[in-house]
Amino acid sequence: MDNSTTVRIANRKYHFPLIEGTEGEQAVDVRHLRAESGCITFDDGYGNTGSCLSDITFIDGEKGILRYRGYPIEQLAEHSTFLETAYLLIYGELPDQGQLNTFSEAVLSEAALHDRMQDFYHGFSQDAHPMVMLSAGLNALGSYYIKYGRNKREKELEAFDRIAALILSKTRTIAAMAHRMRQGLPFVYPKKKLSYCENFLHMLFSQPYDEYIAHEDVAKALDVILLLHADHEQNCSTSTVRMVASSGCNLFSSLSAGVCALWGPLHGGANMAVIRMLEAIREQGDNGDRFIEAAKSGEAKLMGFGHRIYKNYDPRAKIMKEMCERVLRVLTHAENDPLLDIARNLEEKALHDDYFIERKLYPNVDFYSGIILKAIGFPLNMFTVIFALGRTAGWISQWHEIAADPESRIHRPRQIYTGAKQRDYIPMDERV
Ligand code: CMC
Repeated sequence: MDNSTTVRIANRKYHFPLIEGTEGEQAVDVRHLRAESGCITFDDGYGNTGSCLSDITFIDGEKGILRYRGYPIEQLAEHSTFLETAYLLIYGELPDQGQLNTFSEAVLSEAALHDRMQDFYHGFSQDAHPMVMLSAGLNALGSYYIKYGRNKREKELEAFDRIAALILSKTRTIAAMAHRMRQGLPFVYPKKKLSYCENFLHMLFSQPYDEYIAHEDVAKALDVILLLHADHEQNCSTSTVRMVASSGCNLFSSLSAGVCALWGPLHGGANMAVIRMLEAIREQGDNGDRFIEAAKSGEAKLMGFGHRIYKNYDPRAKIMKEMCERVLRVLTHAENDPLLDIARNLEEKALHDDYFIERKLYPNVDFYSGIILKAIGFPLNMFTVIFALGRTAGWISQWHEIAADPESRIHRPRQIYTGAKQRDYIPMDERV
């Protein structure tokens, strides 16, 4: 088979190699296009641009497939845990029992924050968003590990095992503290006997003299939420992490940038936006029918629907929907949540409406995750933090892929300039 392709530009032909991925995905390798032809490619929003070769996550958006390191997301959600999946993403293989124990113990033992780091929280305004604290906290954390946080790549790679476990642990602590600071509650430490998510719930919700004990289905649901969010190949925040890492930047700061990218409502902020949308629909006395019409006319956006990559049902949303039904049966106070009925009606209507069918708009991962998080008792502003906590595993593995690649180059896209042509400076008194 000819593994090259020919492009004709202004009557000249150029040959470019074709690259094929493990799953048969093909790409035209245009790395020499500009040097040979003077042209660049234009791809606003990078919808057709492969920015890297990666061994971590495979998605087939047309078929609704998501696999981490080759393992289908459905199998991982059913049989694995977030920590085991984080290990898989970071190291490329499922751990044996000994490796998992060592990894889990490392995560547990790194939970505490330096005293001065705890003082750092007092500098934020009372209503600072937890995503602000998480991003700033991750960046600041690097300053306590100077050896590994000073952009000395060789040292960072030598200490990678420790930093990976440390970041998974301290991100959980920073997130829990961000919540407790806003509540005026003191920090609580994790317990050895609890799982990663049981501990997170304890660190968030335990009150003085009233320890929060998570129902096993609730802890499991949170674990699955983190696992489903753990990686998603080159999305906006992961590309940001890789972009920052490509300049030689350390893991702490690269992840801090990823948190900022994730915060936006079109990305990780969508789970929060879904609840706001459902609440607005309820307040207007609508069951969702009127909102569907507004979304079709462009007046509103159906949050939690549509995806750049999935043109089929997001496989994570299927798992999340089942999980949502299960959690709501356990959390009886939330079982009759009218928002759930509105969500079900929106989904039903949209899946049978030509506007959504023609544009291949299906529920994405955020459509049901918000309802689960709300039922568990997370305040809205913590929703994207939960997304970030899960995605930290993927970001760490994506950072490592760049950092360990001796051929990795700094990311530096080009542009097509559309501004004014060259003109001469006009002195102030001559300007009209
Ligand atoms: N509601 C109504 N119409 C929509 C929606 C929506 N949620 N999403 C896309 N469309 C329409 C859009 O108006 C456009 O219509 P037309 O062709 O008539 O102009 C068409 O569908 C194609 O949309 P697009 O905006 O070109 O698609 P995109 O790939 O640039 O955007 C998206 C993807 C996820 C940003 C977008 O679907 C969206 O804004 N969805 C709502 C926000 C959301 O749920 N985001 C979470 C994404 S999943 C979590 C993550 O991985 O970050």
